Amino acid sequence: MSSNVISPGATLLVTGAAGFIGSNFVRMLHERGEDRIVALDKLTYAGNLENLEGLDGSSRYTFVRMDICDADGVAALIREHRIDAIVHFAAESHVDRSILGAAEFIRTNVEGTRILLDIARGQGVRRFLQVSTDEVYGSLPEDRPEVKFTEQTPLQPNSPYSASKASADLLVRAWNHTYGLDTVITRCSNNYGPYQFPEKLIPLMIANALEDKPLPVYGDGQQRRDWIHVRDHCRAIDLALRRGRSGEVYNVGGDNELPNLTVIEDILSILGKPRTLIRYVEDRKGHDRRYSIDGSFIAAELGYRPQVEWKTGLRETIQWYVNNRGWWERIRSGAYRDYYEKQYAGRLSGGQ
Ligand SMILES: NC(=O)c1ccc[n+]([C@@H]2O[C@H](COP(=O)([O-])OP(=O)(O)OC[C@H]3O[C@@H](n4cnc5c(N)ncnc54)[C@H](O)[C@@H]3O)[C@@H](O)[C@H]2O)c1
Repeated sequence: MSSNVISPGATLLVTGAAGFIGSNFVRMLHERGEDRIVALDKLTYAGNLENLEGLDGSSRYTFVRMDICDADGVAALIREHRIDAIVHFAAESHVDRSILGAAEFIRTNVEGTRILLDIARGQGVRRFLQVSTDEVYGSLPEDRPEVKFTEQTPLQPNSPYSASKASADLLVRAWNHTYGLDTVITRCSNNYGPYQFPEKLIPLMIANALEDKPLPVYGDGQQRRDWIHVRDHCRAIDLALRRGRSGEVYNVGGDNELPNLTVIEDILSILGKPRTLIRYVEDRKGHDRRYSIDGSFIAAELGYRPQVEWKTGLRETIQWYVNNRGWWERIRSGAYRDYYEKQYAGRLSGGQ
């Protein structure tokens, strides 16, 4: 059984809180109004404080700009706020960038996780939740649709990104086994939803289509992914955090396996844009062909099932990008990087 249930009203350190999923998770918890949240983010190119706009001033929310590799800083923060649990999202997350250069992926995703694990152990943090990915399992056969990733599937990562995440997962496992640190790992499939950085497939295609720019499709566009709405992913993380078993891994999927080309065609059709915007481009090196999650374990153990239906979730997501055009235009122009300075200039000191 779970040894260390994290109840409502806990104080949580959320790393990578200004990224896509981290910010959705912080917003979900903040709306629920029970926990105290210390939101930590280095604000790399992928971190955007606008994602957390509106939370400032809340007594249950604090933002700290910090690198997870700053061991002294993180240790002091955990002591100061008496953190009960760490929900660890912070990572370099873009496969294409990892192919161009892996160093930052190893530093943040592997060494950064090791640093957090050591601090969690040293400071008696009650639970460490590692937000991982189905990409650690490698690629599934295309001609056997019944074969899906289970928690027993061997780790066979194929990209520098997925290798760094798999390495981090193995460290989490070892800290649980060797030191008795209470840990839970979630491995989720591809997310979509509000606040996703417009270099990732779905927001990139929506933004390009809205600007009548070409939609670049890698290879034959037949790579299959199991798309899940970020809201469903955040619900699963929350359940695993509160009620997951220490030492366990939970796969999280959307029950929604689709080829990339179908995803793109669905976006064009909802926006009423022509298929002629599609441009086939050279495939990503080593591109995994198929991911698909068997979600039966988390369903049986924690009663979790995805709730957001694909077309409804996609329509809602597209509407968000239409309504929040300034958000992604500021990212595309680079102006979002000034936001932190404007928002926090003169209000924070030291390593903030
Ligand atoms: N996006 C997906 O489809 C998906 C699916 C499964 C799992 N995941 C995992 O979920 C997590 C979040 O993914 P995302 O899509 O929100 O990524 P993201 O790139 O949008 O966000 C990552 C955040 O981490 C921050 N960060 C990076 N390096 C840091 C460092 N050294 N110290 C502190 N903060 C740092 C960035 O500033 C950014 O805000 C990642 O661990 C990723 O592997 C993502």
